[in-house]
Amino acid sequence: MFFEFITMKKSIISTLCFLLIQLTIAAGINRPLYKDSSVTIERRVQDLVSRMTLDEKMVQLNQDVLGSNTNINNIGEAISTIPSGIGSLIYFESNPLLRNEIQKKAMTESRLGIPILFGYDIIHGFRTIYPISLAQACSWNPKLTEQACRIAAREGSMAGVDWTFSPMIDVARDGRWGRISEGYGEDPYTNAVFGVASVKGYQGDKLSDPYSIAACLKHFVGYGESEGGRDYHYSDISAQSLWETYLVPYEACVKAGAATLMSSFNDISGVPGSANPYTLTTILKDQWKHDGFVISDWDAVKQLIDQGFAADKKEAACKAFMAGVEMDMKDNLYLDYLPQLITEKKVTMERVDDAVSRILRVKFRLGLFDHPYTPVVPESERFLLPESIELAGKLAEESMVLLKNTQQLLPVSSSMKKIAIIGPLAKDKKDLLGSWSAQGQIKDVESIYEGLEKEWKGKAVLTYAKGCDFEGDDESNFKEALEVARTSDIILVCLGEKSGWSGENASRSSIALPAIQEQLMSELKKAGKPIVLILSNGRPIELIRLEPQVDAIIEMWQPGVAGGSALAGILSGRINPSGKLAITFPLSTGQIPIYYNMRQSARPKDGKYQDVSTEPAYWFGHGLSYTTYTYGNVKLSATKIKKNEKLMAEVEVQNTGLRDGKETALWFISDPVASITRPMKELKYFEKKELKAGQKSIYQFEIIPMRDLSFPDSNGIHRLETGDYYLIIDNQKIKFELVD
Ligand code: NOJ
Repeated sequence: MFFEFITMKKSIISTLCFLLIQLTIAAGINRPLYKDSSVTIERRVQDLVSRMTLDEKMVQLNQDVLGSNTNINNIGEAISTIPSGIGSLIYFESNPLLRNEIQKKAMTESRLGIPILFGYDIIHGFRTIYPISLAQACSWNPKLTEQACRIAAREGSMAGVDWTFSPMIDVARDGRWGRISEGYGEDPYTNAVFGVASVKGYQGDKLSDPYSIAACLKHFVGYGESEGGRDYHYSDISAQSLWETYLVPYEACVKAGAATLMSSFNDISGVPGSANPYTLTTILKDQWKHDGFVISDWDAVKQLIDQGFAADKKEAACKAFMAGVEMDMKDNLYLDYLPQLITEKKVTMERVDDAVSRILRVKFRLGLFDHPYTPVVPESERFLLPESIELAGKLAEESMVLLKNTQQLLPVSSSMKKIAIIGPLAKDKKDLLGSWSAQGQIKDVESIYEGLEKEWKGKAVLTYAKGCDFEGDDESNFKEALEVARTSDIILVCLGEKSGWSGENASRSSIALPAIQEQLMSELKKAGKPIVLILSNGRPIELIRLEPQVDAIIEMWQPGVAGGSALAGILSGRINPSGKLAITFPLSTGQIPIYYNMRQSARPKDGKYQDVSTEPAYWFGHGLSYTTYTYGNVKLSATKIKKNEKLMAEVEVQNTGLRDGKETALWFISDPVASITRPMKELKYFEKKELKAGQKSIYQFEIIPMRDLSFPDSNGIHRLETGDYYLIIDNQKIKFELVD
């Protein structure tokens, strides 16, 4: 009896197990492959594409907007009729609730449950705003940029953002162009290094990690070359400059795994960046093997008509899509015209499937199919964490550049007990955020005045006068400002730009500060006291009239939320400045373009201006410190190397002053004679190290000929030519030879 019972129980259990296994198999069979996270992404992509209808494919190729858009250049409203299977949305919100609602619609109401990709412009921070990118490059500390981008990714992803339209790696040499603030300056290599750091920060080790977001390299390509420094304009770029200047950072960032790119607004020598098969397909997809996707810039497809490259919307859609732009930002032309173009056989299904696969691949890599929703956590856990603000302060400290310091006026001596702080920027907060400040808020910002108050509390008396506005001609407050200046031991004059004066569609015909600010300086000069000019701006500034009037200049840039204390620390000497310019400061606007890696002139001593010098105010790489660094003689491991050998260069640098500091060694190469003329010198490597007072350290640079001595020709083929080269560092120029 007992045994019978046991046998019966066993058979019931095994029947149940059998049923369970059958059910599981059945569920597995019914579950489409693309929903199975255990299979490879490529198989999931193929499976999903094979199930999609043409309409479903079409909506994947489009991006619309969601939430309140505050970018005046991109006026757009939240839409209630977003197709549930839309490829992507720009998400203008800081909490994930709306996103999750819309995502739910996509996951449950669309036939295949394809998640939406939520993108946003996180340029130098999401809510914790960091210094503008141009400033970050002046820190020469890409590790800090990587960390800042990691935090921005964390804040963004917790708000519901999967994808940022950053980094901007457009080499820019025209300070009139407002977007110069968004990139990493005039040098291709610097843009490459900081671009890669940003990509690593945003994307982390894996795109599917919880706080990783996809990066988007922009604006592909040559946008920084826009004529006259005017946004959206024509750019005349030779194939040679395209390869040796503008493509360099893109290639590095594509190699670093950047998931996406944004095509540019500019017309590149007759073929716009948003319909350019050579850049978008031949180079990016065929040569560099990029397998993510390209999104157009806002309305850039439609604008092909304004550029005279397409007769109508349909042709614009056709040209952009077939050239290699997979996703259409905002103008809906793909949605409206691609089906018709397919019927007319102007657009192939092969191209459609490739484009859809590219978009889906990024969605799979981000893990969106497996985790489509953003966990909702309280705002206090999302934004402005103490370590995030601390990092903003560190980045601000290292990116500020001491441009001038006559007779070591700075740091401010402790005997100076009365400090006057004057100027429109002294108490301003909004403008310290810079352009593209995402979800940054004015209340989060520490002003210059607040930073100084903290620094000098109980040690000196601060007096303040605004003096004048940023612009206009109201001099009525000059008198009060002069009185404040007269009663002080030192005058800190805070001048510069409003945040809206740089960024998109914010070019200036002159890079000088408005006359009223220069007049204020002349007025304050009458006080006969030492003057420190503190500049906050989003571009290099023309200092030809201001510089002679002042004893010291600090370029603080637009530092974000934590610039006040950083600046105060530099002024007091608590912090030793270590920034160096990543962009040349012309002496006057008329010198533009002027950049360190120009080519040699046919008459190097001639070609002068009648009215100003041909030297800029401050070259790329300029930046003072409160200590001195002495460079020993550079040692080379050989003076002659073969093409397949490496050359090791090293130099001992000593901090020969009394303060601890951080010194960046910039290693340049010059190729004096080549089959295609080369720039006078090109930055190939840099390293920043902390050196205590008295400390020595060896800086090294391993020269790999193919990487560091070759140059691309107009087809992008690298030429490595034998002959003499120079290694340039500090004031030394050392010759070596490359042989076969
Ligand atoms: C236009 C800008 O050119 C681009 O940089 C930005 O990412 C998009 N608008 C989206 O806001």
